[in-house]
Amino acid sequence: MKTIIEPFKIKTVEPIYFTTESERETKLKDAGNNLFGLKGKDVIIDLLTDSGTSAMSAQQWAGILNGDESYAGSESFYRFEAIIKKIMGFKHVIPTHQGRAAEKILFSIVGGPDTIIPNNTHFDTTRANIEFSGAKAVDLLNKDGKNPSLIADFKGNMDTELLEAFLKENHEKVPLVMLTITNNSGGGQPVSMQNIKEVRAICKKYNKPMFLDACRFAENAYFIKIREKGFENKSILEICQEMFSYADGMTMSAKKDALVNIGGFLALNDDTLAMESRNVLVVTEGFPTYGGLAGRDLEAIAIGLEEILDEAYLQYRIRTISYLGEKLTEAGVPILLPTGGHAVYIDAASFCKHIPAEEFPGQAIACALYLKGGIRSCEIGSVMFGKKDENGKHIAPDLELVRLAFPRRVYTQSHIDYVAEVILEVFEEKEKLKGYKITQEPPFLRHFTASFEEIA
Ligand code: F0G
Repeated sequence: MKTIIEPFKIKTVEPIYFTTESERETKLKDAGNNLFGLKGKDVIIDLLTDSGTSAMSAQQWAGILNGDESYAGSESFYRFEAIIKKIMGFKHVIPTHQGRAAEKILFSIVGGPDTIIPNNTHFDTTRANIEFSGAKAVDLLNKDGKNPSLIADFKGNMDTELLEAFLKENHEKVPLVMLTITNNSGGGQPVSMQNIKEVRAICKKYNKPMFLDACRFAENAYFIKIREKGFENKSILEICQEMFSYADGMTMSAKKDALVNIGGFLALNDDTLAMESRNVLVVTEGFPTYGGLAGRDLEAIAIGLEEILDEAYLQYRIRTISYLGEKLTEAGVPILLPTGGHAVYIDAASFCKHIPAEEFPGQAIACALYLKGGIRSCEIGSVMFGKKDENGKHIAPDLELVRLAFPRRVYTQSHIDYVAEVILEVFEEKEKLKGYKITQEPPFLRHFTASFEEIA
């Protein structure tokens, strides 16, 4: 059959509250024109993030009741540890309350002044944790990944020539190399098995551990299966096992591909680093068999990690994203191509050619989508990553994007059709969109709490 259906039935539902355009105008103004400031109930379709927004399965909810809340030695921890060992194969598994807590532990140990951590593209919390430790974060994305309209299979790949040159020059300062699968900040683009292997070989040559930022590992594995030669007949589990076999450790936000609302972990092979990590863990998160989580959370993660390996689910998941991508592309809306694993990214610079980077074209589109149809998206461009030089002049990042990230198992095809309709209406009137200026901003991660004003 041509139609790929949702491979699940809906047992529990949650109402969507509808607002009018004039109500949304007031709500957005009250939120300082920052979509992070809106109340969830004032959003019709929430595509702010795919993180912690999954619908759990009946099995996971049953697992919540079955959670063992023992402070030490919880049965749920052993189930959590066993499935991670089965898929990822690391010797030590350290639970944390979410992905950034795993990053915080790792970089507070290996980071610090005079160290540099390369990645294909650091996610913002990874970069923030590295910089907070006093270290430097460097992105070494391949050339294709920087071209938003180029169709290529693995635009998340690390540039291995750059990595080799970088390590040659800086190897004394590099405690480890990270690789983010899929590459969220670069458009949810996958990394090939070939690239993982090459990065591994370079790390070996310079005697550096390789760590995967593996929030969306199953989506990455599915792309390898359908796009990389030699993997067509392998199961998702086999592909995952191979991907992780090349790494020395990983950080994970379970809020993505473990299909839960909270959780994460750090997993690694090195005994000394594991001991040091657990030392930080007991001070900042909790005892090593629960980390920052309840037993029931560990149980739900263990079940989610089994469910995410289902190929029918992954096929539906990736198809949902490309379905919206195709509708937009057909209508001429510029998006990052090809669509990645968890989100559609509108190319805001091409969408709003009349709004310069320093007037935040992505913010203009994100606000317009909310006003027009109650859709919440996320600006990933000059608001999130823009900097100022010593003269106060705006330095724009490579791309101005608006991310429409899809919660897992939450929305149906008609929701997606509605999203497409709203985007197309905003696109028709794109010349009317105006830029924004920031009226107030915090020193770190400004996109969460800054306030904006439309430029008249
Ligand atoms: N690494 C990547 C690649 C991520 O996408 C995220 C979170 C994290 C690490 C941190 O994990 O949120 O559990 O602490 N990404 C979310 C997003 C927030 O919307 O893309 P966390």
